[in-house]
Amino acid sequence: MHLGRVLRKIAWIAGIIILVCVVLILIALAPTEDLPSFIRHKTRALTTRRFDSTPERLKRGRYITQTVAHCFACHSPREDHPAHHGSFVPGQDAKGQFGTWGPYHLAVPNLTPDQWTGIGNWTDDQLARAMREGIGHDGRVLTTMMPYQWFSRMSDEDVASIIVYLRSLPPVHNPLPRMRLPLILRLLDPSYPEPITSSVPQPDLSDPLQRGAYYIALGKCFDCHTAQNWRGAPIPGLEFAGGNWFPDGEVSAPNLTPDPSGISYYDEAMFIQVMRTGKVGGVRELHGPMPWWEVGHMTDEDLKAMFAYLRTLRPVKHRVDNDEPRRYCTVCRRKHRGGALN
Ligand code: HEC
Ligand code: HEC
Repeated sequence: MHLGRVLRKIAWIAGIIILVCVVLILIALAPTEDLPSFIRHKTRALTTRRFDSTPERLKRGRYITQTVAHCFACHSPREDHPAHHGSFVPGQDAKGQFGTWGPYHLAVPNLTPDQWTGIGNWTDDQLARAMREGIGHDGRVLTTMMPYQWFSRMSDEDVASIIVYLRSLPPVHNPLPRMRLPLILRLLDPSYPEPITSSVPQPDLSDPLQRGAYYIALGKCFDCHTAQNWRGAPIPGLEFAGGNWFPDGEVSAPNLTPDPSGISYYDEAMFIQVMRTGKVGGVRELHGPMPWWEVGHMTDEDLKAMFAYLRTLRPVKHRVDNDEPRRYCTVCRRKHRGGALN
């Protein structure tokens, strides 16, 4: 009698716990297009500033967009051609792309000046705010899949140049759905928008180290080449020391620090050759998302500046080896290729 009552009580409690879990999971998986409004985020009002088109801005904008910041690595569909991973579909640059997975959309917007489906009707400040401050043209909070936290360091002049260049592209009519992700992914996003209200000056580009640091930031090298914790935030102490796993290509990002476990064996000429050819030592091909096909179009001087900056990084001992299987690593506590060597 007594035992029966206890069992009934336990069954009740278990039932309630299961129900709560099911409800929480359903909420976590709810498809969302914006950060929920109960999460406060910072934003600023739009201004009416306009960026005039000049030949200098067009040239600089093309260079930063296509090579340094490689915007089209994400904003263009690409042919998956094994000999040239990531080659663009001719004439389709910047028209955006999307994929669906059940109720979710992974959508990268159309950046061509098409009036209906691209940036044609957005103001210069709407674009500038989206690029550096993570607020879309329609006021929604962008996910950090758009690397605005890196672009927040971009100078006002470079932002102007990119916008002038994007407006010079041939418009491509390509309607795309909006990004729609599970709520939990929106909540776990490692960074939220931060308004920029003062001017961001151009770094001293005549100083190779400053130029290298600036381009390494805009190139988001840190993002891919620093191991991340479970919610996608970089692990302190492992800056540029590799370890992230990329299912696309089934590779881990290598350690770029000047440690023997990193790329201490590189010299300037080798760095330039790897970026230009996508091959290390002429044989080992780089796969996956490493955007060498864009970064490799930077000038010799700029590649040298980036390499000079990489040489100033603090050496971190962390072996990553894409010829080895993917195993647990005791240094970053993640699984990556060559993880067992640490
Ligand atoms: C790593 C991939 C990636 C790169 C590189 C990237 N973007 Fe994006 N971008 C995205 C994604 C994904 C979104 C959509 C985010 C969302 O809807 O939450 C986006 C959104 C945007 C938007 C906002 C569109 C809107 O609806 O308001 C603009 C503008 C934009 N990107 C411009 C750029 C420019 C310019 C560059 C290069 C300087 C760039 N992006 C580089 C992935 C990328
Ligand atoms: C989107 C992610 C991503 C970005 C951005 C990225 N990398 Fe990589 N990188 C990778 C991956 C993954 C590999 C490993 C590819 C392989 O071995 O097949 C790699 C490989 C490399 C290598 C070859 C190292 C070796 O094994 O000898 C160098 C050098 C390198 N990256 C430098 C850079 C620099 C400099 C930048 C910034 C301009 C950068 N990467 C940006 C993902 C990225």
